[in-house]
Amino acid sequence: MKIFVTGGAGFIGSNFVHYWLREHRTDEIVNFDALTYAGNLENLRGAEGGKRYRFIKGDITDAAAIAEAMAGADAVVHFAAESHVDRSILGPAVFVQTNVVGTQVLLDAALAAKVKRFHHVSTDEVFGQLMLGTAEAFREDTPYHPRNPYSASKAAADHLVRAYATTYGLPVTISNTSNNFGPYQFPEKLIPLAVTNLLEGKPVPVYGDGKYVRDWLYVEDHCRAIDLILQKGKAGETYCIGGLTQDISNLEVVKKIIALLGAEGSAMQFVKDRPSHDRRYAIDWSKAKRELGYAPAHSFDEWLAKTVAWYRENTAWWQRVKSGEYQRYYREQYENR
Ligand code: NAD
Ligand code: DAU
Repeated sequence: MKIFVTGGAGFIGSNFVHYWLREHRTDEIVNFDALTYAGNLENLRGAEGGKRYRFIKGDITDAAAIAEAMAGADAVVHFAAESHVDRSILGPAVFVQTNVVGTQVLLDAALAAKVKRFHHVSTDEVFGQLMLGTAEAFREDTPYHPRNPYSASKAAADHLVRAYATTYGLPVTISNTSNNFGPYQFPEKLIPLAVTNLLEGKPVPVYGDGKYVRDWLYVEDHCRAIDLILQKGKAGETYCIGGLTQDISNLEVVKKIIALLGAEGSAMQFVKDRPSHDRRYAIDWSKAKRELGYAPAHSFDEWLAKTVAWYRENTAWWQRVKSGEYQRYYREQYENR
């Protein structure tokens, strides 16, 4: 099988490329990525040079480049996106361009290339927020209620993907997935930001009261879920994919990281809240379990410790990432907060 991956130089995409080349020894991957601030070819060391892997630098909004690069693909796995909520609040335009327009360009190309499957990687944020202290969880039939520019752009993309299935018969699948963690995650997201700040002797900024809840999914479980969807998922279907945490707050996550690194309790700094901050996410992944045999296998505590160790051992990776553009972003996002 030949898979056309978009955004394979980012966090989840690069983990997926490594996973797929390891688990599917005769398959080929074309990785199409614009190498924005979040794309990093260093994430793909080990894959590069092999005969089954090819990288193409390009923008998913460029229809001609996409048509040429996608030719001959059996399946598309679409990760490319602007992915950070805080950046979407600072500047929403590029989120609409990449996440909505880019997805539509890919859908057109996939129709023309007659791919057998178009898998769209989406987020649980499209469903909005749940309240603390409830047992509610997002399911495939939860109504959409996005509350920030990032999640609104992902929701629009999801609607387009479904519209191409019903209108033109494109064989699509969608996964709505919770917060991933693991190696190669850009240090703008909570876990790598906390780990690398602490390693630099800087405090971890905690938004608002810190009593916000996310469902944490180790990135390899996410890659395996996509594998199962490609093998066993039905065209036209959506699958909610989650991890093994149960209502763990940001405060608890940060405290665990502080303990793992032996840092001081005062290493946490409460800062002004994110506007329209979603209070709680939780995922009911029973449909994926029932129909695909999916279950997350990586416990949060064990794999958080391994993730922290990865950042400790790969200081050159994140120090390079945290230089340059990152400094400008960090000042804009956190100064005077
Ligand atoms: P990321 O920001 O780490 O990587 C995004 C990648 O897309 C980068 O390599 C970047 O260069 C590339 N890209 C951005 N704009 C592009 C464009 N116009 N053309 C081509 N490539 C472009 O993102 P991630 O965290 O790996 O997320 C991947 C996907 O998974 C996204 O669609 C995101 O919405 C979704 N998702 C992420 C999470 C999470 O916790 N990180 C959870 C659920 C869903
Ligand atoms: O739920 C899936 C989504 O998870 C993905 O679709 C997004 O691409 C991904 O970025 C992530 O979104 P979040 O906004 O949940 O992730 P983030 O790491 O930015 O924040 C996690 C929680 O931590 C959230 O409640 C905000 C809080 N936070 C975040 C940062 C960066 C802080 O308290 N301080 C911070 O400095």
